[in-house]
Amino acid sequence: MSAVGTEPKVTAVRGHAVSYSGDPFVDPDAFVDIADALIVCADGLITRFGPYDQIRGTLPPDVEIRHYPDALICAGFVDLHAHYVQMGIIGAFGSELLEWLTHHTFREEQRFGDLAHARSTAAAYFDEILRNGTTTAAVFCTVHPESVDALFAESARRGTRMIAGKVLMDRNAPDPLLDTAARGYEESEGLIARWHGVGRQLYAVTPRFAPTSTPAQLEAAGALRARHPGTFVHTHVSENVAETAWVRSLFPDRAGYLDVYDHFGLLGPGTILAHGIHLTDAERARIAATGSAIAHCPTSNLFLGSGLFGMRDAKECAAPLHVGLGTDIGAGTSLSMLATMNEAYKVAALDSYPVSAVRLFYLATRGGAAALGLDDRIGSLMVGNEADFVVLDPNATPMLAQRSRRAESTEELMFVMSILGDDRAVAATYVAGRPAYERDRA
Ligand code: GUN
Ligand code: ZN
Repeated sequence: MSAVGTEPKVTAVRGHAVSYSGDPFVDPDAFVDIADALIVCADGLITRFGPYDQIRGTLPPDVEIRHYPDALICAGFVDLHAHYVQMGIIGAFGSELLEWLTHHTFREEQRFGDLAHARSTAAAYFDEILRNGTTTAAVFCTVHPESVDALFAESARRGTRMIAGKVLMDRNAPDPLLDTAARGYEESEGLIARWHGVGRQLYAVTPRFAPTSTPAQLEAAGALRARHPGTFVHTHVSENVAETAWVRSLFPDRAGYLDVYDHFGLLGPGTILAHGIHLTDAERARIAATGSAIAHCPTSNLFLGSGLFGMRDAKECAAPLHVGLGTDIGAGTSLSMLATMNEAYKVAALDSYPVSAVRLFYLATRGGAAALGLDDRIGSLMVGNEADFVVLDPNATPMLAQRSRRAESTEELMFVMSILGDDRAVAATYVAGRPAYERDRA
């Protein structure tokens, strides 16, 4: 044990580990499975990853090794779309998207002008995501800059890599939630200066969705993105049929919903488009051509009755799209990426497109990282990557234990974890090489 107050410089974790060297949707050899692996970490990065018996002898004898003999270790989950400010309205009964926004969401979000409320919600959010094994998320805040300061400050305290931004909205929402094109621009620039690239924090220009921004504000959003290379764009697209029709009526000069964003320079690498359920083939091709990405949020899509995302259409085509998984709380019903994989499997199964466990875990880890263009830093256990990973417990519940015992391969074990697992199956979450959550010590 190290002395109180001093952390060992090098730490190591041993156990059954799975990872990816690429995209298993296109490369069948991209899956990495090491039955007895050692992950060595120093200064927040992975410095060695491979079979225990090949690496152990190369380490100084006093390195502390944490051994998880019955676990499955993978990269920390990447939640590609969430609204931390909607934790308090998760599970609101009875409405589709536009009514849900009016009756629940816009009321709740008005509370986030209060920094104290934003701070306590951010702290609760981080407790929850780390309990669920999520180490990176692309997060909507509210229109209030305070809500962004609270989120990034908490992330900096926890050491996590987060992508977040102030919501831009200058129409079709209650007055207290509206900014203007000019104010939204200035406040976003202030936040970019305070947070973008500071430690592990990254900024996303965040127009909520086309209906709540005027053309002037979308133009300002495009200008912000162009002026600050390396920032992200985070918005929603084609989630709901009524929403899509509304966008067509608000922007009659544009070819469709996606074209609104395209016109204002909001597509490209680093653009995260939540949902994308009701897209045309031409829109999907344009998303691929621009290098934009879709955040598939199955628990939300089912809960709001929005529709079924076409994973087959996104992946089995001439130009496959970047796709990751999002919880989309509070329209989504779980912060667990395991639960999200479960629902993603079922949505694709309705299209007779069963997604393998290897692909599901990819979507929840390296796939999300690749969607963000961050797969050289997070999302896999590659040497040089940031040392964020999760230790999953196949024996977490009696049901899981009896089923896991019968698994005859790593893939079967992973599938069982994704279908039966949730927060209880997360034994530990490591952020930058250090335990940020340990279930049995919590
Ligand atoms: N579209 C615009 N805003 C929202 C939101 O807060 N949640 C979801 N699911 N869709 C949206
Ligand atoms: Zn959303």
